Amino acid sequence: MSVLRTEKIVKQYPGCLALNNVTVSFESGKVNALLGKNGSGKTTLVKCFSGAIQPTSGSFYLDDEKLHFHSTAEANARGFATVYQEMSLIPSLSVAENIFLGRMPKKGKIIDWKKANEEAEALLNKMGVKINPKEIVSRLSMWQCQVIEITKAMSYNPKVLMLDEPTSSLASNEVESLFNVIRELKKQDIIILYISHKLHEVPQITDTITVLRDGYCVGKVNTKDVNHADILKMMFGETKQRNRPDDVEAQDETVMEIKNLTRKNKFSNINFKLHKGEILGIAGMLGAGRTELLKSIFGADPYDSGEIHVGGQKAPRRASPISMKKLGLGLTPENRKEEGLILIHSILDNLCYASMNRTSNGWLENRQKRKSAANKQVQELDIKITDMASPANSLSGGNQQKVVVGNWLNTQPEIMLYDEPTRGIDVNAKQQIFEIMWEQSKRGISIIFVSSELEELLEVCHRILIMKEGRLIGEVRPEDVDTNQLYALSMGDEIA
Ligand SMILES: Nc1ncnc2c1ncn2[C@@H]1O[C@H](COP(=O)(O)OP(=O)(O)OP(=O)(O)O)[C@@H](O)[C@H]1O
Ligand SMILES: [Mg+2]
Repeated sequence: MSVLRTEKIVKQYPGCLALNNVTVSFESGKVNALLGKNGSGKTTLVKCFSGAIQPTSGSFYLDDEKLHFHSTAEANARGFATVYQEMSLIPSLSVAENIFLGRMPKKGKIIDWKKANEEAEALLNKMGVKINPKEIVSRLSMWQCQVIEITKAMSYNPKVLMLDEPTSSLASNEVESLFNVIRELKKQDIIILYISHKLHEVPQITDTITVLRDGYCVGKVNTKDVNHADILKMMFGETKQRNRPDDVEAQDETVMEIKNLTRKNKFSNINFKLHKGEILGIAGMLGAGRTELLKSIFGADPYDSGEIHVGGQKAPRRASPISMKKLGLGLTPENRKEEGLILIHSILDNLCYASMNRTSNGWLENRQKRKSAANKQVQELDIKITDMASPANSLSGGNQQKVVVGNWLNTQPEIMLYDEPTRGIDVNAKQQIFEIMWEQSKRGISIIFVSSELEELLEVCHRILIMKEGRLIGEVRPEDVDTNQLYALSMGDEIA
């Protein structure tokens, strides 16, 4: 058995103490959960182990050998491998090329393709998955990509494997497939660290739980000794979970109608009405076409036929996000890194981009107004920042997501399209976003809410549409189904 342990690790960023005297230990042959709310220091700890950053003080030991890495290459060589939440694969290359990127086996000066494919296949077999090493990565599903990321990490023969939110972009059925791979890895005497905000996964896959809060280690427990409420308490202290209040009601008035909307190879013949104040969920598996549908409605992507009516008015055929914004629409995109944020720009700017041009006299010029609008979102969404002028990439993953949401809340939309707004967000922050949706609904704002978390659709929405392979295949009310039934429906099964 091997042990990774830390002794009083401190990581001080300018203006932020990300890790504060963290002393923990993790054993091999176990999946060790590392939990904590957004910004609590989980990724920072992993980055210390992976050589991406160096602790300000304190040390860590693998089997009593004191380690200090100056680079990720050094950490890799010593058996530390990391899989980050953001995928790092190159879609146009094959599985084997991705796994051995930059270190393809060679015969003299020529790449030894046969060996590369054989070795890749052997690694994949070891993880218990059947994926063709010659397959081009862009053809794989998300969970398969995530497995390739892990295979790549495993190709270094790691002693420590760190998984930072590996399931955040996976749908429920894919998570199960990934778990089978992780269970296989557990047998190989590796120390596995597992970070996730999906707390229902924790009892399914982990053996121990270590909780960080604001850079402190709150404690470590065996997973089987605690329940959901205990975990929440360790993460947040006291929390309040609230169900959708009764006075959050949809009204009769139709604010938007989608008629026969079709985009070739993406979605076809989509018909639905959205009512004033309604929170309309869209459930479905990855690749069901939900993101594509939202983007076409918002004018970010074209569509081939059909009509969009907003407030009884037909939206122009070649709409743009700017023209749809004028009609009162807002969209928080699914991919915050590529579409939601300008990472090197300040938090302040990122909270104000969507509301630029809102007034004819120029929103941008009025610095005071911008500041107060941004401050309001920082407070309402409880965004953990030290300085509004810091770049967005200095925020933890979840706090970046809150900035994306806050940016659009500042536009005071009449119809909000939310695409996976809670991805990577801790349960308290999720609750805050739900409360904001309910508050918007009470004010008569209508919402379309796409989420892969079926529990959360059931918790938040008035009505849920089910989408599969580009088509709407059903509609349910949350009070009529449970999570399992909604899951079955979104797989296209009938329920009794
Ligand atoms: N490069 C940086 N410069 C300044 N502060 C940083 C930097 N990177 C992280 N931080 C701060 O360190 C703290 C811990 O961040 P970290 O990314 O470890 O959180 P986390 O627990 O992984 O959160 P999440 O669940 O949101 O991913 C946060 O307050 C974050 O803003
Ligand atoms: Mg993180």
